[in-house]
Parts: sequence; C-alpha cells; structure tokens
Amino acid sequence: MGQLDNKTALITGASTGIGLAVARRFAAEGATVYLTARREAELDAAVEQVGHRATGIRSDVSELDDLDRVFAEIAERSGHLDIVVANAGVGDFGPLGEITEEEYDRTTAINLKGTVFTVQKALPLLSSGASVVLLSSSVALRAAPGLGIYAATKAAIRSLARTWAAELAGRGIRVNALTPGPVTTPGGDELRAAFPRDDQAAAPAESAAPTPLGRSGRPEEVAATALYLAGDQSSFTTGAELLVDGGVTQL
Ligand SMILES: NC(=O)c1ccc[n+]([C@@H]2O[C@H](COP(=O)([O-])OP(=O)(O)OC[C@H]3O[C@@H](n4cnc5c(N)ncnc54)[C@H](OP(=O)(O)O)[C@@H]3O)[C@@H](O)[C@H]2O)c1
Repeated sequence: MGQLDNKTALITGASTGIGLAVARRFAAEGATVYLTARREAELDAAVEQVGHRATGIRSDVSELDDLDRVFAEIAERSGHLDIVVANAGVGDFGPLGEITEEEYDRTTAINLKGTVFTVQKALPLLSSGASVVLLSSSVALRAAPGLGIYAATKAAIRSLARTWAAELAGRGIRVNALTPGPVTTPGGDELRAAFPRDDQAAAPAESAAPTPLGRSGRPEEVAATALYLAGDQSSFTTGAELLVDGGVTQL
C-alpha cells in the first residue's frame, strides 16, 4: 500500500530536477500525477520515466491561458486534486547594479506570478484534506549576494504559505513551504556555475560551498519531504516551512 494511494497530484516544473523526483516518488506511492513543463521532449521523457500513473501537460506557469488549459484537462480526467506542488522556478545571477529588467520580469513571472495563479486556479478542484506545497529556497533566509531577485521571490513564497494556510484552513486545505538548500539539479547547477569564480567569497554558501553535511542534496531527498507534506502524515502541519538544506541555514 502506498502513502498516496487514490490521491491526485499536480507538480509544476516536473520534467527535471526536484519536480521530476517528486513526480516519481508520488507515483511510486500510488498517486495519479500530472506533470507540467515548457519543453516538450524533456516532458515526454519525464512522463515515460514516471510511468503509467503520469500525464504530461506542456505549459508555462507564467501564462494564465496555459494554466487554464492545465486545470481544464485535470478536471476532465480526474475531476479533483488532492495535492499541488508549485515547484516550477528559475533564477539568474544578478547583483544589484547588474539586474536587468528582462531577468527581473522572467524571475518574478515564473516564481511569483506562476505560483500565485497555479494555486489560485487550482482552488476549485482542491478537495477538503488537500495539501499545497510551495517551493521556497534557503537563500530567502539569509543574505544572498548575487541572487537578490531570486531570493526575494522565494521569501515571498514563504510569506504566501502563511497567508494561504490561514485563508484555506476553513476548507481543510493545508499549505506549507518546502525550502531546499543546494540540491544537484540542472537548474541549481547552472545557477551556481553562473557565479564568477573570483566572486566566490561574496557568494552565498548555496552557490559553491558544501553544506555542514559536506555535500549538496539530492532531488530524492527533497521529494521525501514533499511526500511528507503532501500526505496524511503531516495532517496537523500548515503554514509551516520545512528545511531540506543540509544544515546550511541553521548551523
Ligand atoms: N536545485 C537547488 O539547489 C534549489 C534550491 C532551492 C530551491 N530550489 C527550487 O526548487 C524548484 C525546482 O528547482 P530545480 O533545481 O529542480 O530546477 P530545474 O532542474 O531547473 O527544473 C525546473 C523545472 O521547471 C520547469 N520550468 C521552468 N520554468 C517553467 C515555467 N515557466 N513553466 C513551467 N515549468 C517551468 C523546467 O522545465 P522547462 O524549462 O522545460 O519549462 C524544469 O522541469 C525551483 O522552484 C527552485 O527555485 C532549487
């Protein structure tokens, strides 16, 4: 028996990295999973990896028409949702003085607007007992030189988890933030590689140094915590933040 038997989950940004690991784990625990991402070939490959419980819906979380299409398809196929993991996110290296309007717009559109409208448009489909998991980042908890805009969007996500947990408690819907530290993924590795080598001293620990546990995290380790927050094991936890960061923010 799986921990998510008979549950239906949406995971945005699920073709690589953390989102893919979450989709794999949820499907292995018995959930029907919907995966989204923009690149078709990567999404198709991810759906194949996750297996027969997976459906891919190619879409961009920053495009509201795309989100409408995602929820229309889920409504038609499954009729409801038990779990939303708002995972799609991007980041750019950009210290103050070098932030471009294009990077600002891209990061806020995907990380903040994308999360807001993913959850808002999911609301009609969410059942009582549903769980919403929002991906924040450990860089939101400390100074994050070179990552100001990215970190600010992730701090906003943590705030939204509190507010939405309060707003949705009456419907029996829980909302929590899941906060990884450095995790080895295509996106995480690319962002860390964007830091100039001679700027490492000023860079946040997340950009280069190992965590107190001496290594970066694995997507599967984040997926295990997503499983806890998504399922009934965390039934009395809402508005909280769970760190999966190798101790980088606390030690
Ligand atoms: N890895 C880390 O060290 C780390 C640390 C803290 C927090 N996080 C957070 O964890 C989440 C996942 O990160 P990751 O490292 O696994 O990233 P990743 O490897 O780059 O994967 C990102 C996924 O999101 C999709 N995506 C990107 N923009 C999208 C959009 N506009 N609409 C729909 N899908 C989109 C990507 O596919 P397409 O490009 O094809 O759309 C891909 O499937 C992010 O929110 C990130 O900020 C990561």
